[in-house]
Amino acid sequence: MRMYDVIQKKRNGETLSETEIRWVIEGYTKGEIPDYQVAALCMAIYFQGMNLEETAALTFAVRDSGEKLNFSDIHGLRVDKHSTGGVGDKTSLVVMPIVASLGVKVAKMSGRGLGHTGGTIDKLESIKGFRTDIPVEKFKAIVNEVGVAIVGQSAELAPADKLLYALRDVTATVDSVPLIVSSIMGKKLAADDDCIVLDVKTGSGSFMKTVEDSRGLAEWMVEIGKRAGKRMRALITDMDRPLGNAIGNALEVVEAIQTLKGNGPEDLTTLCIALAAHILCLAEKGDYATCERMAKETIANGTALDTLARMVQAQGGEKEWIYNPERFPVAKYSRDVLAPTDGYIVGVDAEGYGVASLLLGAGRNTKEDVIDMTAGIYLHAKTGDCMRKGDVIATLYSSKEDGFAASEKRLLQATKIGKNKPEEKPLILDVVE
Ligand code: URA
Repeated sequence: MRMYDVIQKKRNGETLSETEIRWVIEGYTKGEIPDYQVAALCMAIYFQGMNLEETAALTFAVRDSGEKLNFSDIHGLRVDKHSTGGVGDKTSLVVMPIVASLGVKVAKMSGRGLGHTGGTIDKLESIKGFRTDIPVEKFKAIVNEVGVAIVGQSAELAPADKLLYALRDVTATVDSVPLIVSSIMGKKLAADDDCIVLDVKTGSGSFMKTVEDSRGLAEWMVEIGKRAGKRMRALITDMDRPLGNAIGNALEVVEAIQTLKGNGPEDLTTLCIALAAHILCLAEKGDYATCERMAKETIANGTALDTLARMVQAQGGEKEWIYNPERFPVAKYSRDVLAPTDGYIVGVDAEGYGVASLLLGAGRNTKEDVIDMTAGIYLHAKTGDCMRKGDVIATLYSSKEDGFAASEKRLLQATKIGKNKPEEKPLILDVVE
C-alpha cells in the first residue's frame, strides 16, 4: 500500500477501506508514515468528510493503537462522562462525586486544557498536594474504596490520537466531525467503562458552532460507542455562554465545591444534575425523575461533597480545602471590568471569554506554559442581565498585572450590550440516545 494513493483517494472524495485506515494509523503510530503525509490526509478528510463506516474504522484503529485498560477488578458498573470542551466547564468535578455517591464507579481519565478551553486535570491540580499521576493499581484501589478517582490520561492510551491531535492543532484540521469523533471515542473506548455520557457543546465557545453539527457529532459518537458494546447517551448543550460564573482553575474548583454545597450558579447546577441523572439512568438506577431526585439528594445531604473530599484526600490533596474553600490561594492582583454603557447583555462570545482568561495566565498557549492557578475571571453579569454604565461585569484575577489590559479589552469585545432583553435560550438543547 502507498500513502500517496490513500491521500489521493480521499482527496478525490472516495471511500477508504477499513484495511487502508488501519494501515495508516498503525504506520503513523510506529513512525513509518511522516507527519506531512498524514497532515495532507487530515486536510483531505476535513474537506471530503468520511462516512459512518470510515469514521468507525478510524475510531477503532485509534483505540487499538496502544494499551487498553482493564477495569475488571473494579467492583460494580463503571461510568464515564466526557465533554467536548468549553469555557467554565467544571461539570466533571460536580457530576462524578454525585454519581459515585450513589454506588456507580468512576475511574476517570481526563485531559489538560489547551487554547481557550479548560481541562479537569489542571483544575484539580490547584488543590494543594493533589496528584493526577498515580499508578494504575492505586487508581483502581481508590475507585473501589471511594467510588471515584480522576487521573491524567496515560501516554500509552490511544497514542495515535496524541500524534494526530498535535498535528491537527497546527494544520487547522481540529474541527472536522470524523476527526473529532475518532479522537474522543478512540480514547474513551480504550478505557474499560460500561456506560458513557457525552456532553456535546455547541456554540461560540466550542468546536461545533451549530446545533445541527453538534447533533451529527453526537449521533455518530453514540452509534460508534454502541457498536463497541457501551451504553451511550449524549446531551447537546449550549456553549454560547460560559458555564457558571467562574473561569480559571482554582476559581472553578471553588465554584464546583459551592455547587456541591447547594449554592452553585443555576446553569451549572441544572446541567450537573441532568448529566448525573442521565448517567444514573444508563446505570439502571431508575427512571429519569427518580435519578434526578437521587442526584439532588446527594447535594442536599452532603454525601456528594464528602465523596469529593474523600477522593481529594486519597489522591494526596488537602481535604480541608473542600470543606473550607476560602483556603484556596487568591490571586495577588484583581481588576474590575465595568459596563461601558447602559443596557442588557444580549450575548457573549464564550471563546473570547476563554481567551481573556488565558491572557491572565489561566491557560497555556503552548504545552510547556506553566499555569497560574489563581488566574481567571469571575462573571458578575451574564447574558440577559441588565446593566447600568459603570456596573461591574466581571472581576479579573492574576498574579501578574501585565495581562489585565489585553484581557479586559478581549472581555469587553466579547460582551454584546443592547437595548432589549434577549430571549432566553435553553441550556440543554437535545438528548441523543
Ligand atoms: N477533544 C478531543 O479529545 N479531541 C478532539 O478532536 C476534540 C476535542
